Amino acid sequence: MYIALKHTHTLLAVISISGFLIRALGHMAGAAWVQRKPVRILPHVVDTLFLAAGIALLFQVQQYPFVNDWVTVKVIGLIAYIVFGVMALRVAKTTPLKAVWTLAALGTFVFVASVAYSKQAAGLFA
Ligand code: HEM
Repeated sequence: MYIALKHTHTLLAVISISGFLIRALGHMAGAAWVQRKPVRILPHVVDTLFLAAGIALLFQVQQYPFVNDWVTVKVIGLIAYIVFGVMALRVAKTTPLKAVWTLAALGTFVFVASVAYSKQAAGLFA
């Protein structure tokens, strides 16, 4: 069960960041498909399943936010990734700003992945 959940969570993480980067590039290029309903809805489905698998894993490994600091960092990191993504895809109006928020979301994601693998709050900075 643990292995299946971890693979599911990891696979959904890859789908989430790949989908975000493809949409961000399309958005910067002014592509019309970025505004289509399925393209806007699917990321919510992926991210909800991604979070659900993460929460199920918490119970498997019995490590919890605000108890274990690396999990706290992951939860805060996920929120930051979502906020930066909204900034890149909805709020930013110029291409340089869209690029900056996209890189911020990508950097946050890479950092949180490093926290996941190291199980240390400082992740790749440890
Ligand atoms: C951008 C956000 C996230 C990324 C990129 C991410 C990525 C990953 C990756 C790659 C693994 C597998 C690590 C390994 O194979 O050792 C993992 C494991 C895990 N993740 Fe996440 N995750 C994120 C968010 C979350 C959130 C929000 C939670 C909790 C609600 C969570 C809970 C867990 C747990 C409990 C594990 C298993 C740790 C263990 O094996 O001891 N993750 N995550």
